[in-house]
Amino acid sequence: QQLEMQLEMLEKAGYDHFMLKEIHEQPRSIRDCMRGRIYPQAGQVQLGGIKEYAEKLRNADRIIIVACGTSWHAGLVGEYLIEEYARVPVGVEYASEFRYRNPIITERDIVIAISQSGETADTMAAIELAKERGATILGICNVVGSSIPRLTHGGVYTHAGPEIGVASTKAFTAQVTVLTLMALYIAQLRGTLPQSKLVELLSSLQDIPVLVEKALQCDGAAKYIASEIKDKTNAIFLGRGIGFPVALEGALKLKEISYIHAEGYPAAEMKHGPIALIDEEMPVVVIATQNSSYEKVISNIQEVKARKGRIIAIVTEGDTAVKALADYVIEIPDADEAFLPLLATIPLQLLSYYTACMRGCNVDQPRNLAKSVTVE
Ligand code: G6P
Repeated sequence: QQLEMQLEMLEKAGYDHFMLKEIHEQPRSIRDCMRGRIYPQAGQVQLGGIKEYAEKLRNADRIIIVACGTSWHAGLVGEYLIEEYARVPVGVEYASEFRYRNPIITERDIVIAISQSGETADTMAAIELAKERGATILGICNVVGSSIPRLTHGGVYTHAGPEIGVASTKAFTAQVTVLTLMALYIAQLRGTLPQSKLVELLSSLQDIPVLVEKALQCDGAAKYIASEIKDKTNAIFLGRGIGFPVALEGALKLKEISYIHAEGYPAAEMKHGPIALIDEEMPVVVIATQNSSYEKVISNIQEVKARKGRIIAIVTEGDTAVKALADYVIEIPDADEAFLPLLATIPLQLLSYYTACMRGCNVDQPRNLAKSVTVE
């Protein structure tokens, strides 16, 4: 048993938990995920595992993304990116709902199944259904040789390396990275982006690991804010546009490992319900970086402040307007809006990590949760 413990310490590489180690691995895992796939100077993306389906992707009427949990959140980011750059309509489905709905699927549909483990029962069933109905199925998986890659026609591995913490961290950012690559690849196939824009986006994407490294420097701030929210019973996470799935993922992380009830909401929908919950006890985490929805998010923050909610804002480095309103801020480096999820997710992972630690929770193995859900 002592040997086992020593082995585990070695595997954690000096970190207290696998989750913290995996959070800090992200600059490397994102870089590994892009390796050999992007050629910024040429404005080219190469994805060997799906190139056989290039023609299908060029002619697709629609893309359906199926997944569960955190992978479903990555799917929502994918929807935003694929529609924005490749101009193909995308639907994102919970695999468990899709499989029982008698969905309309044609041979011109592409189904993208996202799964870290490659073993999730509902996602597998959704794939089989879509396959029977003639769709082309592409996978985004992390575990090489798992079941889903064997069920799909083609796919792209995330190459994030083994993820031990039950709450997904580096697998999520790797899924988002693959979806970014796929969006740009499909854009390239369909000619929906000028070459100069592809060059620009790919060059910025190549720099993302360095920016993720910088975002990780918010560790101290995340710890401090965690000490302020650790005794709360609820939290709300708000975001708009591509920041909305980030809010959902932030809320999921917090509830999974700290057992604080948390809800992610599109910031503008707050007035249709969650605003009723806001009082001086309610922490409201807002993705308020400088992007196309910045001004609108500021008015959402004002609505929360008017009801005495406590604002924790994720802002762009050097921000002043949100800082003047928020109770706490965490800065992340500036980047193209498309890459916001890769950066804004980092402080939310650290915030939930430290909150869970301070509450004495079992961070790597939260109660009632499993790393892979192979039953319905
Ligand atoms: C479980 C895990 C989550 C994961 C979800 C989907 O609930 O605890 O972290 O997001 O399953 O798993 P998959 O392996 O398909 O991504």
